[in-house]
Amino acid sequence: MTSNEQQNLVHAPRAVPPRVGSSVRAVDDVAGLSAVFEDGVNVVALSRKVGVTILDEAQVALARPSFRLLTSIAPSEGPAALGDQMACLPQLAAEIHFWTEVLAELTGCELVGVRLARLEAAMCPRFHVDKVTVRVVSTFAGSGTEYIPEEEVDRRWLGHAALGANDEVSGLLRPGARIRQAEAGDLVFLKGEAWPENAGRGAVHRSPWASSTRPRLVMTLDPLESINHDREASRGPRSRR
Ligand SMILES: [Fe+2]
Repeated sequence: MTSNEQQNLVHAPRAVPPRVGSSVRAVDDVAGLSAVFEDGVNVVALSRKVGVTILDEAQVALARPSFRLLTSIAPSEGPAALGDQMACLPQLAAEIHFWTEVLAELTGCELVGVRLARLEAAMCPRFHVDKVTVRVVSTFAGSGTEYIPEEEVDRRWLGHAALGANDEVSGLLRPGARIRQAEAGDLVFLKGEAWPENAGRGAVHRSPWASSTRPRLVMTLDPLESINHDREASRGPRSRR
């Protein structure tokens, strides 16, 4: 985990009144992603199949032990803005660019932070929340991100309050809670603590297990400008898929 990512972790539980209804919304098309604007929703998971050519290029990236792309782009500049490193992975670059466009259109930001990394270990193995507005995570190879619906979490046991106990036994999971896990290729929108009026309700999530023999290839996108509060959920992103 980088120092910036460590800075973004928020572990202190806060006393916030619960909201009614599930905080997780499962959608099956791009238009459904506008659910992220709904009050009380803090995870939107888009289930989808990734094309074979994209998966093939993901394996090419995975074959490079130190593969890591870290940049920020204006989606309006096209896939080439992702840089030379992605030139030999054109389908993967187009895919990543597409999601930067979706995120930009959804949030109104003009600049998107992009990270595509080969990971041999869980970057953030404990459940936590991020101090961001919203973060998009997609795993092109390997196990997907894990998360827990708001109503199944007891935030009093987030982070240091657990005194090192495993998440599964610390009390963080309410009785009957079930850890959800994204499939490879799924898009997961995780609302963070910096989303308007979401302080104390950021999506609780963690990285899954990975190893040198079973690495993951993970894309993370962050809007680098403030969310456009005027956007209505009903507008949403264009539906290209
Ligand atoms: Fe995180």
